[in-house]
Amino acid sequence: MMNFVTRLLARSEPTFSEARQRDAARIATVHAASFQRGWDEDEIHRLLIDRAVVAHRATVGQTMIGFVLSRMAADEAEILSIAIAPAWRGRGFSRPLLDLHLRRLAGLGTRAVFLEVGEPNAPARRLYQRTGFHEVGRRQGYYAGGATALTLRRELG
Ligand SMILES: CC(C)(COP(=O)(O)OP(=O)(O)OC[C@H]1O[C@@H](n2cnc3c(N)ncnc32)[C@H](O)[C@@H]1OP(=O)(O)O)[C@@H](O)C(=O)NCCC(=O)NCCS
Repeated sequence: MMNFVTRLLARSEPTFSEARQRDAARIATVHAASFQRGWDEDEIHRLLIDRAVVAHRATVGQTMIGFVLSRMAADEAEILSIAIAPAWRGRGFSRPLLDLHLRRLAGLGTRAVFLEVGEPNAPARRLYQRTGFHEVGRRQGYYAGGATALTLRRELG
């Protein structure tokens, strides 16, 4: 039965929508599986109740497979975190998730979006390149392990 459900889910297309406070635990699970230092449920919950934070999720049935979180300040926003759960990566799901998020930010009056990405993070850099971000700065040795952080920017509408 579980195999059947797993196979069925694996063929399913995700739904992209606004994330809610009740998603905090499931977002924390995806975050922990995606970053060296995970954010716990309380940290995620604090972000989700912040009126300046915009959050979207990708779900397949009841399964949270990805999320993106940004914080707005005046007419700018910073992408705080984006991830697709490891088992769901490499299927092109990050792009529609980020596109929806950027459209929402634009609708809320954001004119420029910033983010930071590790130079060696090829899937993330490709995603950002494909969604119109360009490099505006770099911090050598910013990450533990010595990787350079790139600051990227995208203008919206
Ligand atoms: C970054 C992340 C969200 C991208 O999602 P994904 O499911 O892996 O990537 P997608 O399948 O949506 O592909 C995005 C692009 O990257 C490319 N890509 C995917 N895996 C790749 C890899 N291993 N190397 C190089 N490019 C890759 C895809 O071909 C696609 O580009 P295209 O549109 O030109 O074909 C995901 O890898 C992730 O959660 N990583 C861990 C958390 C993280 O690093 N977040 C970003 C922090 S800045």
